[in-house]
Order: sequence, then structure tokens, then C-alpha cells
Amino acid sequence: DMTKLWGGRFTKATNKLVEEYTASISFDQQLAEEDIEGSLAHVQMLGECGVIAPEEAEQIKQGLLKIKEKVEKGEIQFSVEHEDIHMNIEKLLIDEIGPVGGKLHTGRSRNDQVATDMHLYLRKKISFLIQLLEDIQQAIIKQADAHVETILPGYTHLQRAQPISFAHHLLAYFWMFERDKGRFKDSLKRVNLSPLGAGALAGTTFPIDRRRSAELLGFDDIYPNSLDAVSDRDFILEFLSNASVLMMHISRLSEELVIWSSQEFQFIELDDAFCTGSSIMPQKKNPDVPELLRAKTGRVYGHLIGLLTVLKGLPLAYNKDMQEDKEGMLDTVATLEGALQLLAPMLETMQVNTGKMRQAVQEDYSNATDIADYLVNKGLPFREAHAIIGQVVLYAIQHKKFLLDLSLDEYQRFSPLFAEDIYETLQPKQVVSARQSEGGTGFTQVKKQLELAKAVLGGK
Ligand code: ARG
Repeated sequence: DMTKLWGGRFTKATNKLVEEYTASISFDQQLAEEDIEGSLAHVQMLGECGVIAPEEAEQIKQGLLKIKEKVEKGEIQFSVEHEDIHMNIEKLLIDEIGPVGGKLHTGRSRNDQVATDMHLYLRKKISFLIQLLEDIQQAIIKQADAHVETILPGYTHLQRAQPISFAHHLLAYFWMFERDKGRFKDSLKRVNLSPLGAGALAGTTFPIDRRRSAELLGFDDIYPNSLDAVSDRDFILEFLSNASVLMMHISRLSEELVIWSSQEFQFIELDDAFCTGSSIMPQKKNPDVPELLRAKTGRVYGHLIGLLTVLKGLPLAYNKDMQEDKEGMLDTVATLEGALQLLAPMLETMQVNTGKMRQAVQEDYSNATDIADYLVNKGLPFREAHAIIGQVVLYAIQHKKFLLDLSLDEYQRFSPLFAEDIYETLQPKQVVSARQSEGGTGFTQVKKQLELAKAVLGGK
């Protein structure tokens, strides 16, 4: 099959179904920019090392730049006949500048080429995702700034637990996203390595300089082992894993947004621009965006498990199985970009119903811990205080009262240690501000935390 770049050894044309089945061009064309970037560095190195003549390197470079321009303008129709982005571009190059274009592939293989493309692609995308995460952190800081003294119930088991500052709740997500950024940044150490020049698996007979092409591509170092260089997909797994943790955080936040915007809670209202209606029920305003964010976590987990499974038990070095690394990675990048770009403006425009939050705190027993602490401050061991307050709460529930509604006389039936100051202790604002331990929800602590968050973000 002489129409193929590798046709020499073949006596027949490829079966059409096989051609389509083995091709990756429908998705790896998203790597066109990186593929050309890698080729530009490779050919410059070949010229500098005298593997090909400097004029030839220059001709190839000019050809590649022309193709790059055409790709950017959308003028190029990639073909399944040439299987993947690497052979499509090589074919375009040869069509553009003639047989000298065939010198580009000297001293390299598609195996180190595709790995190089993926490293370049993820390096670029990870940096972009880190920026998007910072936009979300900014949005969180803005809302937190406005709501340090907004009090709402904090929950455990989705049961009212202790009142907290809304800023404190929001900032919890700031730190999750900060860790996500940290994982992405750390992974760049392993993403930013050059496999280029590893050849098909064993290196090459040509006097290439792998460090030079790595330098031209801005890689920090090269893979020390050519087999590992073409077989390694850990960096993609690591990306998918970090993406999974990030999506898990997004899904938890989304779940809270969905709950908070329900009729039952009414703690927040998402901006109309971020909600959709029902085709039948005119009153509906649905939180579709956080629902989809929550749901899309599933596909990202799926891609992680999918690739782990593809790689399990694969012998060294390259196997065609590894072509299956791309769609999940590309889809994960698109999913994260979509999610992160929506999350920042959605958080920023969210209306916070401070009245409903406050009302919720006034109509619950989430200040019970504070009565226990009150008795502890008067000398009672905590465990005893806990038992007494359990009785107080039971009594209050049975008499359909909240803790602030009980008279001093009623309190003193449970312990003579109660005095008039119990009522001040039980005010929600007092309950929150009393939690001054470092990292707690007390307002002065939250303000400190907010300053720290701003410094962390400003220090970038
Ligand atoms: N399209 C291939 C992939 O994505 C490129 C590498 C092909 N190498 C090979 N020896 N068939 O994995």
C-alpha cells in the first residue's frame, strides 16, 4: 500500500474498517499545535547536530510553520487515511516542501513523538487549569469578605450541629482548591520531562542531542531511560487522579448549592443567568449547573479507571493500547475547563439570603454545646455537663421550646450553676464568636483566615 507512509512492506491496501478502527486523527488533531512544536524543536536539533543539513532543517522549519498557520486558520482537512496527527502532518509537510520533508522523522519515532505531544499538551492545560482555579478562589474570597458575620447552621450528618460563619464555610472550599492547585503544580515536575529522542524504544543510531531538543521545548529534564520514556503514562494517570479529586470537591460544593437553593433551605439564590426553567412547571427555577457539575464528576472518575485498566499488565514498550490514553485525557480537560469557567461567575453572582440563615440558627438547638461549655466553665467535668444538657434539650423539645426560651427557673432545675448570663452565652452571634481557637469559626479567626487566603492568592 504505497499511499501510506509505512506502505513499503505491504502488498495490499488496508481494510477500510481497519483504517477507521485504528485511526486516532478524529481526536488527536487536538494535539496539532504540540505536534508541530515538537517537530520544530526536533528538526532544529537535527540541523544543529549535523544529522541533516542546516538548509534542510530550515526548509522543514518553514514548511512546518506554514502548516501551523493553515491549521490555525482551519484550512486543513485531516484524513483518516493517514491515521493520526503525526502522519497527517508529516504527509502535509512532504506535500508542502517535497521529499526533503521526509527527513523530519530522522532519529525519532511516533512513539517518542506522541509522548512528547502529550507532555506538552498537559503542561499547557495544567497551567491554564491552575489559573481557572484561582478565579474560583477569588470569587470565594469576594463572597467570604461580605459574609464574615453571616451566621448559618453548620451541619454534621446533615443535622444542625453548631452555628458558623458563612465565610468560614466558603473558605473551606478555598483550601480544597488550594490543595488541588498544589497537586497540579507538583505534577508538573513529572509532566515537564522530555521523552523526545527515545526513538521507538531503544534510542537511535544518529548523533542526536536529546538535551537540546528538551531545552528548546522548555522541558526541565529528559527521561533517563528510552523504554520508560515511550511507555510511561503515569503523568496522564496523575493528571486524571488530580482531576478526580478536584471534581469531587466541585461536586461537594455543587451539592451544597443545590441543597441551599431548595425551597426547604432558601439559604442562597443562584442568579437567573445560571439556572433554567421547566418545560411544564412554570414556577420552577432549577439549579442545572451545579447538578451537572456534580454529575460530570462521574465521567472524570471513569477516565481515571479506564486508563488505569488500559495500562494494567501492558508489556514494555509501546503498545497500540496506549492510543486509548487520549480521549479520556482530552475529555477530562474539556470537562474541567467547562466546570471551572462556570463555577467562578456562578459563585460571584449568587445571592445570599442572610435572613433565612439567621432564622435557621434561631430555630434550632445548635447552641447546646455552648451550654455544656458554660457549665464546664463553672467547674463541671465536660462529660457530666454533656449529660445534663442532653436532659435540658430533651425537656425543651418536649415542651416545644428552643434553648433561649427556657426560663432561668427551668434551667436551675437541671443545675444550680445556671445564672442570668446563660442567655448572652446562647445568642447565635456569641456562640460563633466564642470559637476563637486557631482555624475556628470565631469572627476574628475567620478574618485572619481570610487575610491568609488573600496572601496565599496574592503571593502568586
Ligand atoms: N496514534 C498513536 C497513539 O496515539 C501514535 C503512536 C503510534 N505508534 C505506533 N507504533 N503505532 O498512540
